[in-house]
Amino acid sequence: MTTPSLTGDPGDQGDQGDQGDQGDQGDNSPLLVQRSDDRVVATLNRPGKRNAIDQATVDALHGLCAELETDPRTLILAGSDGVFAAGADIAELRERRAADALLGINTRAFVRIAELPMPVIAAIDGYALGGGAELAYAADIRIGTPSLAIGNPETGLGILAAAGASWRLKEIVGDARAVELLVTGRTVKADEAVRIGLVTSLHERDDLLGAAHAIADRISRNDRQATIATKRVFRAPREQHPAIDLEAQSALFESPEKFRRMTDFLERRDRSKTGELS
Ligand code: COA
Repeated sequence: MTTPSLTGDPGDQGDQGDQGDQGDQGDNSPLLVQRSDDRVVATLNRPGKRNAIDQATVDALHGLCAELETDPRTLILAGSDGVFAAGADIAELRERRAADALLGINTRAFVRIAELPMPVIAAIDGYALGGGAELAYAADIRIGTPSLAIGNPETGLGILAAAGASWRLKEIVGDARAVELLVTGRTVKADEAVRIGLVTSLHERDDLLGAAHAIADRISRNDRQATIATKRVFRAPREQHPAIDLEAQSALFESPEKFRRMTDFLERRDRSKTGELS
C-alpha cells in the first residue's frame, strides 16, 4: 500500500469561493481535513463529546462536500479517540422543534455525502450510533475494528432515525434485519456487522486507516471517470436501468483513457507473446 502524502495544511484549500467554512481551521475544528491529490481524509474531532455531530460539524461537512463536488476525490471518513460518532448532538437535538426537523439538518448533509462523485469510505472504530451510524450508512464502503458498535437508539430518545437509516439501512442489510434493528434500537457489534454486511472487513485499530488507504489506493489505480460513472449509475433508481448504464458507457467508450488503457493491455499481451516482456 502506498500511503499518500497528506498535506493537512489548513491554508491549502485552493480557491473555495463561497463554499463556506472548510471546517479544518485548526485542531479545535470539529472536522480535521487532510488532503492529497487523489483523496481526502476527514476526521470527526469532538472527542470530549464522543464526536457527537453538532451544527458546526454539519457545516464543516457541507464545506467539504462543496470542495469534493468541484474537485472529486475519494473521501475517507474517520472518528477519533476510539469513537466514530456517538450520534447527533443530543443537547442540540433536544432544543430542536417541528420546523427544525423539516429542515433535515443532518439528512441533507448525509445525502450530499452519499452523492459525492467519488467513493466514500467510512473507517469505523468504536461507537457509531444514531446520526453517527447514518453518516456511516451514507458511505459507499464501510470497514471497522473489533470494537465497532453500530446502531440506531433513536426510538429510545423519542425520535426516529430520520437521516438515512430508514432507507439506507435496508439497502445495506435487507428489510427484515433493518426493521428489527430500528425498532429495537439495539447495537450491532463487530462480528455481527461483518456477518450481515454492514461492514465489509475488520482491522485492528492501528491498521484501520491503513486499510482504508489501501482501498483508496485500489480506486486510484482505476480510471477516475469510470469510477465516477460506476458510482452514479450504481446509485440510480431501478427504473433508470439499463438506459443510464448505456448512456454512461457510451460516453466512456469515447474517452481517451479507455483507448489508452485498452491499447496498453493489448500491446502488453503482444509484447509478452513475442518475448519482449519476460
Ligand atoms: N450528544 C451529545 N453529547 C454526547 C453524545 C451525543 N450523542 N454522546 C456522548 N456525549 C457526551 C456526553 O454528554 C459526555 O459529555 P460531558 O462529559 O460533557 O458530560 C461526553 O460525551 C462523554 O460521554 P459518556 O457518556 O460519558 O461517554 P462513555 O464513553 O461512557 O459512553 C456512549 C459513550 C456513546 C455509549 C454514550 O455517550 C452514549 O450513549 N451517547 C449517546 C448515544 C445516542 O443515543 N446517540 C443517538 C443520538 S440521536
